Amino acid sequence: MATSEVEVAELTPAQQIVELEKKYVLQNYGRYPLALKRGKGCWLYDYDGKKYLDLISGIGVNALGHAHPHITRVIREQAGQLIHCSNLYFHEYQGKLAEKLAKHSGLQRTFFCNSGAEAMEGAIKMMRSHGNAAGGGKIEIVALENSFHGRSTGALAITGQPKYRHDFEPLMPGARFVGANDIAALEAAVSDKTAGIVLEGIQGEGGIYPMYAEFLRKARELADRHNALLVFDAIQCGVGRTGHWFSHQMIAPDVQPDIMVTAKPLSCGLPLGVVMCNEKTSGTIRPGMHGTTFGGGALACRVALEFIELMENGLLEQVGRVGEYFRTGLRDLQKKHTFIKDVRGAGLMIGVELDRPGKNYVMKGIEEGLLFNATHDTVLRFLPPYITTEKEVDRALRVLGKLFRTVTV
Ligand SMILES: Cc1ncc(COP(=O)(O)O)c(C=O)c1O
Repeated sequence: MATSEVEVAELTPAQQIVELEKKYVLQNYGRYPLALKRGKGCWLYDYDGKKYLDLISGIGVNALGHAHPHITRVIREQAGQLIHCSNLYFHEYQGKLAEKLAKHSGLQRTFFCNSGAEAMEGAIKMMRSHGNAAGGGKIEIVALENSFHGRSTGALAITGQPKYRHDFEPLMPGARFVGANDIAALEAAVSDKTAGIVLEGIQGEGGIYPMYAEFLRKARELADRHNALLVFDAIQCGVGRTGHWFSHQMIAPDVQPDIMVTAKPLSCGLPLGVVMCNEKTSGTIRPGMHGTTFGGGALACRVALEFIELMENGLLEQVGRVGEYFRTGLRDLQKKHTFIKDVRGAGLMIGVELDRPGKNYVMKGIEEGLLFNATHDTVLRFLPPYITTEKEVDRALRVLGKLFRTVTV
């Protein structure tokens, strides 16, 4: 054996995983020092068998936790029948899933793709097609400061955080940014040149900031006044995450977007994104104008259907109830620690804003068997699986209490 092979053989399995990645994988992620082997329910296990309570669920993806019996059963069954057949042909599950999405979103038509960014690209093409059909240089997209819409170049162009954009500029022209909930700025930015207005009902990556009802209403009114499309990015805050099917239904149920995109939890860990739109907007994409090879495969759609059926049978209510319980516990901790500035969010989308960086709390959390992350430097972000129970929240609160007492910054 060559020396380097001997050295590698002496490493633990987790260390070997890290070393191999360092050598061959593009170094675009700043990963935490943890390699995970398997999961069951809300728990994850590393290569030494140590267990971790998962309060981040793959950044809002593993809605039913890990190895959920319904999901493993339908994956097994469907993998033995048909995983993918491309969009050249029909299969049973796209139509059924689109029907469910229409029922819960009020948006009649769905385009299937593979990720959040890809869904946002679809929405951008719809806005552009709408604006071009109207003519008169209607190419502007009004988006919000502090937003996050994905890493593809179109989605980046409307992401209101310069740190993500600046290495790739110039990006798609026509993006304008206004402050979240700033009605006057929105009114000033939207004009007849606006093809669309894009916003997250609750900004996720930006630090768990909900929009106000009046802001959503104004966005709808301005979109109507200027013949622009209203687009909601429900990639992180959608499909039950807030204890409601979609966050705007909780914030301002009277407001309906023209387009809504979602992805993350939809297929419980399998890549699936969607662009949903109303009948009027569906005319912006005619045959041949858009498509994707993998989008809406039979396996991913069938898993999503299974998930939606579980949500319809009580899980959605559980998200609301357990989320409220979690926030109440966090507010109790806030009373004991003045460095906790705010506890906010809805359902199981929760942000705890500190007056200091959150990284040390995240690192110490890993040591103590608790997984969450920090966004925007100072906001601890919790996106636990929808199956999380009060008992697991009690455990999380005990560990967080310890972290808040002991971690030094
Ligand atoms: C609100 C929002 N939009 C878009 C995206 C991009 O999704 P993806 O990473 O699946 O491309 C994310 C991802 O975090 C998101 O939170």
